[in-house]
Amino acid sequence: GITRHYKFDIKLQNVTRLCHTKSIVSVNGQFPGPRIVAREGDQLLIKVVNHVSNNLSIHWHGIRQLRTGWADGPAYVTQCPIQTGQSYVYNFTITGQRGTLFWHAHISWLRATVYGPLIILPKRGIPYPFPKPHMEVPIIFGEWFNADPEAIISQALQAGGGPNVSDAYTINGLPGPLYNCSAKDTFRLKVKPGKTYLLRLINAALNDELFFSIANHSLTVVEADALYVKPFETQTLLIAPGQTTNVLLKTKPHYPNASFFMTARPYATGLGTFDNSTVASILEYEQPFKKLHPRISINKLPLYKPVLPALNDTSFATKFTNKLRSLNTPQFPAQVPQKVDRKFFFTIGLGTSPCEGNQTCQGPNGTMFAASVNNVSFAMPTTALLQAHFSGQSHSVYTTDFPSDPVILFNYTGTPPNNTMVSNGTKLMVLPFNTSVELVMQDTSILGAESHPLHLHGFNFFVVGQGFGNFDPNKDPKNFNLVDPVERNTIGVPSGGWVAIRFLADNPGVWFMHCHLEVHTSWGLKMAWIVLDGKLPNQKLLPPPADLPKC
Ligand code: C2O
Repeated sequence: GITRHYKFDIKLQNVTRLCHTKSIVSVNGQFPGPRIVAREGDQLLIKVVNHVSNNLSIHWHGIRQLRTGWADGPAYVTQCPIQTGQSYVYNFTITGQRGTLFWHAHISWLRATVYGPLIILPKRGIPYPFPKPHMEVPIIFGEWFNADPEAIISQALQAGGGPNVSDAYTINGLPGPLYNCSAKDTFRLKVKPGKTYLLRLINAALNDELFFSIANHSLTVVEADALYVKPFETQTLLIAPGQTTNVLLKTKPHYPNASFFMTARPYATGLGTFDNSTVASILEYEQPFKKLHPRISINKLPLYKPVLPALNDTSFATKFTNKLRSLNTPQFPAQVPQKVDRKFFFTIGLGTSPCEGNQTCQGPNGTMFAASVNNVSFAMPTTALLQAHFSGQSHSVYTTDFPSDPVILFNYTGTPPNNTMVSNGTKLMVLPFNTSVELVMQDTSILGAESHPLHLHGFNFFVVGQGFGNFDPNKDPKNFNLVDPVERNTIGVPSGGWVAIRFLADNPGVWFMHCHLEVHTSWGLKMAWIVLDGKLPNQKLLPPPADLPKC
């Protein structure tokens, strides 16, 4: 591999969307931010310079960061944020990974505007396990807020209520023609007939799982979260915040005399506070057009629209998720842990906590909204967990008593239990090096009615099972797929259901795990694992870099 240098200047930039101009925090003045392209085996040195008044940090979502946890990025977990006028060089090597990932700010709600694609090509000379595409196109979904997202979440947290939802979804930063004032802000993918395109789909939206479809074209899914899957064809796909999916798009053999909408819209299992609008972009066949139809303008062509599943189409969502399987070939074997050292059962969901001070809180019955893992709502420390762990100065920063089972016994009945209270704490779970972990995450469906896309930093995991209702420890494990389960870094815990994952804790450090719906993270749906150093020298976390920011 080679060393690639990037510089991210974090600065304010005026951007206009929906006829509304505002100043956003951007990288190098770009929105969405710059694309990082590297190869497996390369070392990346990304210098981030903070020219804005916000503290910030950047996370390389899905990069394993083997022994380089210092470069992972979540603020107050692996580093103190980069303060105004300061800089930090993220230094890591891409080991054993290739595919589509993304990077985003990892503090408060700054990732609303600070995000971009991170594309890892295979090593030189190593082909994809599918036909070589004519062209590769990143398609990154986001959310646009007319107001300042930082202000939205901080007001909501103070009032103990829910934040305002976004004003539009975006594709490559553009809302598209179905929103007011946005026809000119439409992403257009120009294609030639009879070719294969690799679309690198990334869901960087803050709070919504999305359906995506292209009118009159089917898509072949080949990769999820930068891991190859058994190819399958679909009209529509589902992608949760934090997930990435590569699909092959075969264009029509001949110029079709039409253009096609590519649209995305949310999937939610119940009515909640989200924006049910549709972002559209356009697939446009270009080349032979001018010669064949010199007098027709491309804008006069018929424009076909795809039919997306209904908002709450859980049956589609379940079928789609079940189709995802590891490629599992001799070249790309699925190395599913067959034996398990530690089993954990975590309840995942929303809850409430007592109203603080004498204000009127906007949660149910005058409480504050909260969210938790095993009834613990994670309290962010004011210094970084990884530094505290590495220096042995942990006692004042966190405790290691994260409960391996729910504090309040859980039994899913479909109706909320009486006790929805959670407690606050900075509790971590410690794992010896190379522990083989099985983790069942059970959604409690208390208050909320959404899948929770759980993201684990530092690892990929295998999704060995999932189901609805209560997880049954005697029956369900018998049906686990230990042969070719999909491997990924973010998985939706279905509303009113559970998922079981397995991973090998072979990466020493402190690793955040949280719901990638930003509002749930803000409410406390997060925790962290400590993976201890192994005995061998190459099984230990590297020492912190000299320029690691201080709190
Ligand atoms: Cu993409 Cu911890 O996040």
